[in-house]
Amino acid sequence: MRTPFIAGNWKMNMTHLEGIKFIQELGYEYKNKNNCEVCLCPPFIALRSVKNIIDTDHIDIKLGAQNMHFEENGAFTGEVSPLMLKALGVEYVIIGHSERREYFADTNETVNKKVISAFKHNLKPIMCIGESLKIRENGNAESFVLSQMVECLKEVDAKNIADLTVAYEPIWAIGTGKNATSKDANDMCRAIRIRLAELYSNSFAEQARIQYGGSVKPSNITELMSMSDIDGALVGGASIKLEDFIAIINY
Ligand code: 13P
Repeated sequence: MRTPFIAGNWKMNMTHLEGIKFIQELGYEYKNKNNCEVCLCPPFIALRSVKNIIDTDHIDIKLGAQNMHFEENGAFTGEVSPLMLKALGVEYVIIGHSERREYFADTNETVNKKVISAFKHNLKPIMCIGESLKIRENGNAESFVLSQMVECLKEVDAKNIADLTVAYEPIWAIGTGKNATSKDANDMCRAIRIRLAELYSNSFAEQARIQYGGSVKPSNITELMSMSDIDGALVGGASIKLEDFIAIINY
C-alpha cells in the first residue's frame, strides 16, 4: 500500500518569518485524518527556520526543497547543493518543475543528473513531468510525458524507485485554476506507472508514488485522491493558504 503524499510547493512565496508563522499554525491546527505523508517545500532561505519549528513543536511534516544543483560544491554562484540540503534535515527535493524548465534552463538531461545526485545523497526526488497545452491539444500528451520520464530516469538504479515520487503536472493546469479532470489525470498517472513497470518491474512500479499537480484545491482533492493511480498531490497556490492546505490534507 502506498501512503498518500501531499506536498506543498511554496514557490517564491513567504519570507522565513512568514514561513515560521505558517508552520506553527499548521502544526497547531492540522489533524491529518488520512494519515498522509505531508511535506512542505519552502524557499531555500526559509528551510532552516521551518525545520526548527518542525523539530521543537514535534510536527509530523517533512521538509522539502524546491530545487538543487547536482554537484556537491564548487563555483556555481547562487546554487544550493545536495550536501547543504542534507545538512539542514531536508528529506525531499522537487526536481524539474516546469517553472525551472521554462525560466531556468532545466532540461531532461539536467533533471536526470539531479535525480541521480539526489538519490546518491539520500534525498528523495519529487520529479516533475508534464505537457503544455499545445502538446495536449495535438494529442501527444502521453507520449511526450512518458518520454520525458524515460529521459529523466536514465541510469537511475531500480533500488531507488521505491523512494521516487513522480509529479505529473500538466503545465496548462499550473496556477490557472483549470485542473485536469480526475479521469485525465489518472489516465496519465496510470500510463506513468505502466512505463515504470516496463523500465524496472511491477513491484517497483507499485511502490513509486505518483502525484498530480495543477490547481489542486479543497474542492477537487477528494475526487483526485479517489483515483486508482493518483497517490497524492503537489500543491502550489493552495499550499500557502493555511485553511486550504489543511482542507487538502484532510480531503
Ligand atoms: P498550483 O497548485 O498553484 O496550480 O501549482 C501547482 C504546482 O506547480 C505545484 O508544483
